[in-house]
Amino acid sequence: MRFKLLVVDDEKNIREGLADFLAMDGYDVETAADGDRGLKSFQKGDIDLVITDLRMPGLSGEELLKRIVSETPGIPVIVLTGHGTVENAVTAMRNGAYDFLTKPVNLDHLSLLVKRALQSREMILKHRRLEEELEQKKTFEAIIGTSNPMRKVFDTIRRVAPTKASILITGESGVGKELVADAIHQLSPRKDKPLIKVHCAALAASLLESELFGHEKGSFTGAVARKRGRFELAHEGTLFLDEIGEIDQNIQIKLLRVLQEKKFERVGGEDTIESDVRIVAATNKDLKAEIDKGNFREDLYFRLNVVNILVPPLRERRDDLPLLMTAFLKEFAQENGKTVEGINEKARAAIYGYDWPGNVRELRNCIESAVVMTKGPIITEDDLPPTLRVKNDDGWIRIPLGTTLEESEKIIIRDTLTAQKGNKSKAAEVLAIGRKTLHRKLAEWGEEAAGTEFDE
Ligand SMILES: Nc1ncnc2c1ncn2[C@@H]1O[C@H](COP(=O)(O)OP(=O)(O)OP(=O)(O)O)[C@@H](O)[C@H]1O
Ligand SMILES: [Mg+2]
Repeated sequence: MRFKLLVVDDEKNIREGLADFLAMDGYDVETAADGDRGLKSFQKGDIDLVITDLRMPGLSGEELLKRIVSETPGIPVIVLTGHGTVENAVTAMRNGAYDFLTKPVNLDHLSLLVKRALQSREMILKHRRLEEELEQKKTFEAIIGTSNPMRKVFDTIRRVAPTKASILITGESGVGKELVADAIHQLSPRKDKPLIKVHCAALAASLLESELFGHEKGSFTGAVARKRGRFELAHEGTLFLDEIGEIDQNIQIKLLRVLQEKKFERVGGEDTIESDVRIVAATNKDLKAEIDKGNFREDLYFRLNVVNILVPPLRERRDDLPLLMTAFLKEFAQENGKTVEGINEKARAAIYGYDWPGNVRELRNCIESAVVMTKGPIITEDDLPPTLRVKNDDGWIRIPLGTTLEESEKIIIRDTLTAQKGNKSKAAEVLAIGRKTLHRKLAEWGEEAAGTEFDE
């Protein structure tokens, strides 16, 4: 890491002398001739350490120190004091200076002081980063993912969770929409109140209505007692409306009213009930298209979709595959009481190359079945569901993005071998490498015993 230092002193000689000296120590150095300019340079950002004189025209060193320390706690500021002004130095220390040096500056001492200050700053920053990562890990424990698209999702969750805004989570089947809804509730001030989930597609329209809003005794055949609806149960908490794209027009109108007025009546009831509910809805349908087709109300759409969180499909975030595979492997090995340590190269390549139309859910099921199927401690390509096995009969070698060079080499060699029906001499010829080289590589990968002869 290269550090950037700021030297503030109104005496040109001292300022430039210090800057030159520190530059020789390997730092980037900026200079400023007075406190005001010093503050401006600092506020532009990325300064790691400040060295400032105390007595300067305009904004004094004292003031500059206070401003810097209050704006960026933890930043080391070294103050320079004239001879015999120890009180100033003491005040500066009290105001948060890292240390002080008396003029004329002992350069060796300065060098050491700067080095030490930056070391401890680096440690503090590293520590803070780790803490942040840990915090993030805890919050999103259930949602595995470190890819950029998932980071964006986490970011949005973090920003919207504390608000009351309605959120529409969209994305293909099995991408983790429900997990996102859980995280939003968990990170919201409502986390100790209920999170109520309604699976809108699972219920017939009339049942859904009474499920959502409740009903009075005798309001319809079978309504033997008064029942409170999910809107009431979710009071002060979150209501998760899953598969919102499936609800019927009649309920869409009622839902719209609750969202607008925060009021509703139970089915067959007269009393108006008020409920303070945060709505999170999810769908894998394209609601805009449903609006165009006249299946979904546009006004309801806008009410629900104050913030949209689009959870990207797995094929657009293959970087998450290794973490997901490892987590599911561990989960199902434990669940099945099996010792499964890993997944072999070929099976991995198949997993990487697959499109995952069913997304994380499909991957999860795939790993589960592989763990159940496998006979040894390592999952091989034969343990995978047939849909996944690499097809190699179209004259192409397919190497998915994200494959390492080493892995790619293996795939190329193996697929060429397969295409040559295992004839190593022919494969070597096609690859334009020596037979010995091919032989050695295969031996290295444990594909054949060293010293095995070529079958011509
Ligand atoms: N990022 C992830 N990390 C760990 N598990 C995940 C992740 N995403 C999804 N899953 C798991 O995959 C399965 C499907 O997730 P979830 O039910 O949240 O998807 P969904 O988007 O709501 O799907 P559907 O559209 O079918 O309702 C669940 O078992 C869930 O735990
Ligand atoms: Mg779901």
